[in-house]
Amino acid sequence: MPSILSLRNVCSGYGKLQVLWDVSLEAEKGDIIALVGANGAGKTTTLRTIIGLVKPWSGDITLNGERINRLPTHEIIKKGLALVPEGRELFPKMSVYENLLMGARMLRDKKKIEDTMEWVYGLFPILKERRKQAAYTLSGGEQQMLAIGRALMSKPSLLMIDELSTGLAPLIVAKIFDILKRLNREENLTLLLVEQNVKLALEASYKAYILERGRVTISGESNEILKNPEIVKAYIGG
Ligand SMILES: Nc1ncnc2c1ncn2[C@@H]1O[C@H](COP(=O)(O)OP(=O)(O)OP(=O)(O)O)[C@@H](O)[C@H]1O
Ligand SMILES: [Mg+2]
Repeated sequence: MPSILSLRNVCSGYGKLQVLWDVSLEAEKGDIIALVGANGAGKTTTLRTIIGLVKPWSGDITLNGERINRLPTHEIIKKGLALVPEGRELFPKMSVYENLLMGARMLRDKKKIEDTMEWVYGLFPILKERRKQAAYTLSGGEQQMLAIGRALMSKPSLLMIDELSTGLAPLIVAKIFDILKRLNREENLTLLLVEQNVKLALEASYKAYILERGRVTISGESNEILKNPEIVKAYIGG
């Protein structure tokens, strides 16, 4: 399987504060990868570094074999990467429709934008029902669907989601994960999931990386990690 995303010894941070230390990570096409770790471990920083919102200090990041370290975020998005940010970062006063359009800024072709929007509405029919409503009027689950829908508007081959489950009822989370798994299965969408809910992340993914204070300390197949009593004790409890 060819690697779609690869990080080799990536270091990065903010100002003089180093957050990531030699982070290496590999995602194959069609993979579902979980990146888990405690508060402040550097999960969000990893995703922001991959998509160019934080510039890597050293190391290599490649997408489909091409180095993307120095590219601006919009160029990286054009190459097929998208991020659903922590906290969703919707435009609260804008309608569902307008929020989706914001995710399509790199698509020039009007017809393509319409088709992509219909595809998103097909995945999340509630968004079509609510397309004229302001984003802030949606429930938490619907807002998360909108944030995912907006990221899908750029037709990514790799979607990164930062803390999907935060603040949502388990039933809603399960429903959204079902849709993501369907996208993974039917459209070969590669997923990189950051989660505080370690059990959920390990159950939903094939491969997992555990980040501790900016370093990858454990990686492997998710079902093997789930069987490891030390990890279960440290991260899941029980
Ligand atoms: N914009 C920023 N400027 C300076 N330091 C930052 C900034 N964002 C994050 N940090 C610091 O970087 C470290 C890693 O933060 P990061 O947000 O990547 O962690 P995280 O694993 O996503 O945590 P959480 O689970 O709370 O979302 C923390 O020490 C944090 O205080
Ligand atoms: Mg975070």
